Amino acid sequence: MAERVQSGIRKKLIEAFTNNENEYLSGQKLADIAGCSRTAIWKQIEELRKEGFQFQAVRRKGYKIVSIPTAMTADKITLGLKTEIFGRNLYYYDSVESTQKIASKLANEAAEEGTVVISEEQTAGRGRMDRKWHSPKHTGIWMSILLRPKIPISKAPQLTLITAVGVVQAIEEATELLPQIKWPNDIMVNGKKITGILTELQAEADSIHSVIIGIGMNVNTLEADFPEEIRRTASSLSIEAGRTIGREELIRTILEKLEKLYLLYLTKGFLPIKLMWESYAISIGKQIIARTITGEISGKTIGITEDGVLLIEDSAGVIHHIYSADIKM
Ligand code: BTN
Repeated sequence: MAERVQSGIRKKLIEAFTNNENEYLSGQKLADIAGCSRTAIWKQIEELRKEGFQFQAVRRKGYKIVSIPTAMTADKITLGLKTEIFGRNLYYYDSVESTQKIASKLANEAAEEGTVVISEEQTAGRGRMDRKWHSPKHTGIWMSILLRPKIPISKAPQLTLITAVGVVQAIEEATELLPQIKWPNDIMVNGKKITGILTELQAEADSIHSVIIGIGMNVNTLEADFPEEIRRTASSLSIEAGRTIGREELIRTILEKLEKLYLLYLTKGFLPIKLMWESYAISIGKQIIARTITGEISGKTIGITEDGVLLIEDSAGVIHHIYSADIKM
C-alpha cells in the first residue's frame, strides 16, 4: 500500500504556489511562508522535480511552477484547491481495500473534519446494501470525506442529499452533461448511473462522532471495464461526454462545491439544499416501485421531507415514508 501524507513544508509550498499562480516566489519568501530554512525549500523543490513537477528558476526572482506531472498525486489534487476545510488534510493511496475503511480508522484517531482519503483503486470497494463497488485503477474517483457535524442522528441522511447536489454541480461545471439525482444517492447521466454515494455514521446515543461520506464516480471508465452485470445500467463521464475528463480538477471542484453546500447547511439549515436537490431530482412526480427491506411499495413520488425521507403516494392515496430503498422507475 503506497501512502503519501503531505509534509508540513510541502503542503505550505504547494499552497504558496496556488495562492500566487504565475508568479515567481523567492526561496526566502517560500522559507518565510513555510517557516523553514531556504535549504529545506530547495530540497523540497528537488523532491517535487523528481516527481515530475517542472519549475522555472530565475535569478533574483525565484521559482515558478510551469508544469505538473500527469499521474494523480496528492500534490496535483491540492494544487489550486480553494477550500478551507475539505481536503486540507488529504491521504492519497495507490491501492486500498476501501477508502471508507481508512477514513473510519482516521476518524477514530481524531483526524480533523474535512479529511479526505482518495485511492487510485479499491480492491474491496463497498456500495449501499452491502453491495460491491467496482473501483478499477486510474479510472475513477474513489474518495471518502470525514465530517463531524453537530446534528442529531435523524438528520444524517440529509448529508447524502447535500453530497448529491454538490456532485451534480461539479459534473455540470466540469462537463457539458446534464446529471440528475435518483433518490437517495445515485447520480445519473442519460439514464445511467455515473456516481454512488455511501454515508456511514459513527455515533453514540444521539450524538454523531463522525460521518464518512464515500463518493464513487466512474470518470474515465471504458465500457469494457464494467463487469457484465452492470454494463447496461452504469456509465462513466468519459463515455457520456466522449472525451477524457481530468480527475484532479474534478476532485477539487467536488470538494469546493461540497464545502460551500455544507457550510450553507450548517448556517441556514436544510431548506435551501432541499430546493436545489428537488430541482435535480429525476424521480419526483414519477410512478415508481420502491424495494425496501420489508417489501415493495409502488406509487407516485411526491417529494422529500425536511429530513430527506422520500414520500410516495400509493393508488389508495396513502402516503408512505421511505427511509431506505432501491428505486425502480
Ligand atoms: C452506492 O452503492 O451507490 C454507493 C457507492 C459508494 C462507493 C464509494 S467509492 C469510495 C468509498 N469507498 C467505498 O468502499 N465505497 C465508497
